[in-house]
Amino acid sequence: MTTDPPTMQAIIQDGYGAPERVLRLDQTARPSIGADDVLIRVRATSVNTPDWATVAGVPYALRLRSGLRRPSHQVRGSDVAGVVEAVGPRVTDLQPGDEVLGSLWGSTTGSQAGAFAQYTVAPASQLVKKPVGLGFEEAAASVMTGLTALIAMRDVGQVRPGTRVLINGASGGVGTMAVQIAKSLGAEVTGVCSTRNVELVRSLGADHVIDYAKQDFTQSQQRYDVILDNVLNHSPKAAARLLAPNGVLIPNSIGNTGGLLAGLPRVARATLMGRGATNVKFVTLAVNRENLNALVRLLETDKVRVVIEQTYPFDKTASAVAHVLEHHASGKVAIVV
Ligand SMILES: NC(=O)c1ccc[n+]([C@@H]2O[C@H](COP(=O)([O-])OP(=O)(O)OC[C@H]3O[C@@H](n4cnc5c(N)ncnc54)[C@H](OP(=O)(O)O)[C@@H]3O)[C@@H](O)[C@H]2O)c1
Repeated sequence: MTTDPPTMQAIIQDGYGAPERVLRLDQTARPSIGADDVLIRVRATSVNTPDWATVAGVPYALRLRSGLRRPSHQVRGSDVAGVVEAVGPRVTDLQPGDEVLGSLWGSTTGSQAGAFAQYTVAPASQLVKKPVGLGFEEAAASVMTGLTALIAMRDVGQVRPGTRVLINGASGGVGTMAVQIAKSLGAEVTGVCSTRNVELVRSLGADHVIDYAKQDFTQSQQRYDVILDNVLNHSPKAAARLLAPNGVLIPNSIGNTGGLLAGLPRVARATLMGRGATNVKFVTLAVNRENLNALVRLLETDKVRVVIEQTYPFDKTASAVAHVLEHHASGKVAIVV
């Protein structure tokens, strides 16, 4: 006698376009796990750039990889916080009932499974135990943006006490984490954001805040050792003009807020500039236990907190993605599953 595989609810993507049009809540098969994997009962997840970009299907070049007419893997989401349901035979340090946080990012089974679902799969090497004092929503909302900010500030920017750091897009998911992580490393931080987020960015510890509605930061006379540009709404040349000798420009955006036709050529120009005299470096996201534990340690101090503008119930995931797609969420948008 054969038994039907267990099912679950997940947010299924049928095509590319507006989130409310292409995302639906439906029943599907629960993912299965490999020897090094963990099956997680998802308690919370969050929306990141790759999620809305794959829902919208932009830039079009992305479809060459994700699927021409519709995505080959139908469930989005990579950040995850939840409870271990089962582990593969080679996983020895996690067990059913453990509360974990982590990411599916870059893993084959995880990318197929997706985190916008009741159950998902991640390699054990991309999960750590969730601190008891950290809520599932904060845990899930911290992962991709927190790791990106950590790698940008600690590794790429080599931020030290006294380093002068400018963060464009200081009020977004990556920016809110980067401001706090740079401060925790001893930097003097300048954040750039809109008027309505000035107080938020200041409350995160920024020493100086530039309201982009009132001042174009590229016209400043200040000089910076590290510029993290999460928006790319200015030409990389204009931003690089503010670099101190030996300073580094970190372009960290597909330039979405300025329109893709403006953004992608800016990424290309920044890449070319980096082959010349300007020090340009990109952030490569590395999800591993060392980085996750470093992030968790920061979250356990009172130096870094996860800013969540809004939490959506699971059946409103499409609205959560649409919210982030507007590019003005203050911090993160979380989803409770
Ligand atoms: N390298 C990696 O592995 C990696 C990983 C994750 C993300 N990223 C990149 O990081 C970037 C930021 O991601 P995120 O999650 O932080 O995005 P987000 O949460 O949507 O933040 C967008 C930011 O852009 C600002 N903004 C929007 N319109 C603007 C405008 N016209 N002028 C100036 N600023 C504007 C917003 O500020 P206001 O709301 O105050 O206007 C906000 O701070 C993305 O482009 C993404 O591609 C890279």
